[in-house]
Amino acid sequence: MAPAVQIEPLTKADVAAAVNLAVRVLGVKPGDRGKQFASDITDDLRQTFVAKANSKVVAYGRVIELAANEAGPGTPAGCYLSGVLVDPAWQLRGIATELTRARLRWAFTRTDTVFYVTGADNIGSLQLHAALGFQEVKRFRSERSAAGRDVLSQLARTAERC
Ligand SMILES: CC(C)(COP(=O)(O)OP(=O)(O)OC[C@H]1O[C@@H](n2cnc3c(N)ncnc32)[C@H](O)[C@@H]1OP(=O)(O)O)[C@@H](O)C(=O)NCCC(=O)NCCS
Repeated sequence: MAPAVQIEPLTKADVAAAVNLAVRVLGVKPGDRGKQFASDITDDLRQTFVAKANSKVVAYGRVIELAANEAGPGTPAGCYLSGVLVDPAWQLRGIATELTRARLRWAFTRTDTVFYVTGADNIGSLQLHAALGFQEVKRFRSERSAAGRDVLSQLARTAERC
């Protein structure tokens, strides 16, 4: 990872910067993102980590416990990695990998298996997670990704690559 980048749990002071990052990079409206991030701080079933460079939020990633079918049709209940986003100026420096390792440490204190779902066309996300040991479970039709298909993958604690 790039030197001087720190991975930390999201705090209240980071919420506005995390919302701004999403708005700027994803081109979305803020909507209730501030509330969602704030609840990541207080809710025991979810956590967001941020990556900071010179005290500035340059990336974030969430981990959340979901019910069956919440991540997509036929998906199991469990702990899911979700919403990892790295500022384009900071991509390909290992930041998402470190955010994912932090989220896995959080998740594996609660469960033996961690899941994530991404679009079948999101090669960066698929490669990032595969490098950490995630294995594809199944694909399913989805309107959330441009490819029209999402991929469910899982990682068992015993299969994690450090
Ligand atoms: C996907 C994303 C989070 C990766 O962040 P990152 O910090 O650049 O990722 P890392 O530097 O940790 O990359 C780790 C590995 O993932 C793979 N990878 C990451 N981005 C990639 C890309 N654009 N194309 C192909 N492989 C990619 C590579 O194998 C890379 O390892 P390498 O650099 O040794 O080759 C980032 O591109 C992003 O924010 N994308 C937009 C949001 C998104 O798609 N999030 C995922 C939703 S599940």
